[in-house]
Amino acid sequence: MIEVCQATKRFLDVNVLDGIDLTIKDGDKIALMGPNGAGKTTLVRSILGFYHLDSGSIRVNGADPIKERQEVLRHISFIPQTPPPIKLSLTELMEYVSKSSGVNKEYIEQEAKKMDLALEKNLSKPFFKLSGGMKQKMLISIALAKRSDILIFDEPTANLDPKARERFYGLLEGLDPKVTTIYITHRLEEVESLINRKIYMDLGKVVEDERI
Ligand SMILES: Nc1ncnc2c1ncn2[C@@H]1O[C@H](COP(=O)(O)OP(=O)(O)OP(=O)(O)O)[C@@H](O)[C@H]1O
Ligand SMILES: [Mg+2]
Repeated sequence: MIEVCQATKRFLDVNVLDGIDLTIKDGDKIALMGPNGAGKTTLVRSILGFYHLDSGSIRVNGADPIKERQEVLRHISFIPQTPPPIKLSLTELMEYVSKSSGVNKEYIEQEAKKMDLALEKNLSKPFFKLSGGMKQKMLISIALAKRSDILIFDEPTANLDPKARERFYGLLEGLDPKVTTIYITHRLEEVESLINRKIYMDLGKVVEDERI
């Protein structure tokens, strides 16, 4: 469970998060929507402990994302809006996530195959030299291979071609229903069949929270 209580985050005197209250239950599948600059990415980055809140609190399964960061991150797979400029080759990257987060390399290979990423051909290539869509496929493969209880995707399909999008959503349909998923998206129609809850943010506030 994720509990966000009166979360406020200021950047340059602007409340980018402005007193957000949210309870996300285990198994919730959420589309998090709202205009550019609404605070969606800031909210998920706060859940991941990237930012100190100015006031309020966040708990992930009872743990504080700042003080108990490792414990919180152990449960979460996160795909960022922009892929990080990782210099490691794919082989090195797999080695790294397997050592640092206990992600099974064989699972990564399996997920990559399902995402139609030609992993073997690119093993020695640095991550940052992959195409945008290939980066996304690699991050998706790692995220799913981690077998987390919480998945957070920040516009994961932006760089994917239509076939890859279909594959991605097909994989998500096959997940354990107990997995909690947050999709930040501007395309509700893509995730509509996967979600039970729609949350709209604007100007740092939750303006609509609808269960369907
Ligand atoms: N690290 C930062 N430093 C300063 N301002 C920031 C920082 N991160 C975000 N902001 C500001 O906070 C506001 C909300 O940004 P955020 O990235 O959370 O929006 P978003 O809802 O994810 O938008 P988008 O749909 O464009 O991804 C924006 O005005 C942005 O400029
Ligand atoms: Mg964003």
